[in-house]
Amino acid sequence: MDFKTAFEKEKRRFEDCLEKCFPPENAKPEVLNKAIRYSMFSGGKRLRPILAIWAYKWAGKTDDDIIPVACALEMIHTYSLIHDDLPAMDNDDLRRGKPTCHKAFNEGIAILTGDALHALAFELLAKTRKIEIVDEVAKAIGINGLVGGQVVDLEVEGKEVNAEMLEYIHRNKTASLICVSLRCGVILAEGTPKELTAITNYGNKMGLAFQIVDDILDIKGSTKELGKTVGSDLHQDKATYPKLFGIEKSEEIARRLIDEAKASLLTDKENKLFYELADFVINRVY
Ligand code: IPE
Ligand code: IPE
Ligand code: MG
Ligand code: MG
Ligand code: MG
Repeated sequence: MDFKTAFEKEKRRFEDCLEKCFPPENAKPEVLNKAIRYSMFSGGKRLRPILAIWAYKWAGKTDDDIIPVACALEMIHTYSLIHDDLPAMDNDDLRRGKPTCHKAFNEGIAILTGDALHALAFELLAKTRKIEIVDEVAKAIGINGLVGGQVVDLEVEGKEVNAEMLEYIHRNKTASLICVSLRCGVILAEGTPKELTAITNYGNKMGLAFQIVDDILDIKGSTKELGKTVGSDLHQDKATYPKLFGIEKSEEIARRLIDEAKASLLTDKENKLFYELADFVINRVY
């Protein structure tokens, strides 16, 4: 099976499970349940849940116990996008090819939809009864993770940043959740310390490359393919890799990170899917 087929198949399987996590649209409060479903089912690559599922399998498990964790990770990611798009943050109107949550509903509902997804995610993580999973995810998306990265991202709008600060932002706002998604797979599968170290190195490097490519696509991509408005970073004068290094050098950095990510995996294991996934991250147009 080629990579695209394997990814799409996993995505469909995952989305069937995700569907069952939420109350129906007409359940109370109706507007909240509508906004949740609107945001969760309007496209999206489902990268983070698929990373968790594939890491779980990579570490040797074949059952579906990882699925609730995968659902939680996609809820957290979606909550972060809903808040990221708010006027108080990136002020974007288009997400996953549709009006952003605050445009389709309103700002208050968008904030609360994010909050509800965040809460539901931890309810699902707690169901694993593995405190390590809850702890890992909480740390990855908190002060020294996604939220910390988002805070500095906002703080430096319109300002000059150096390479170290830029890497801090990108590692925290994006690589952190990507990396913990992989780690959750290996932890829940009770993988070896060697496996956990390898997948962590892979995730950190691939996750940073993912955000650099996201910055590049804001310039080189198309609004239609991306499902979000290109040029948004330029408009907000965001700290991005192309802004600091130019496009060519940014592409070179991302390519090097992808090579290093691949080299982090264990040579005595079957890594094909993760090699191909790394290539997808660098070559993607959406
Ligand atoms: C967008 O993430 C936000 C970043 C961290 C760059 P994705 O590119 O994974 O967005 P979806 O889930 O496919 O919409
Ligand atoms: C978003 O980074 C990171 C998080 C949502 C945590 P961006 O602001 O670059 O993501 P897009 O481009 O809006 O998807
Ligand atoms: Mg942002
Ligand atoms: Mg944004
Ligand atoms: Mg972006």
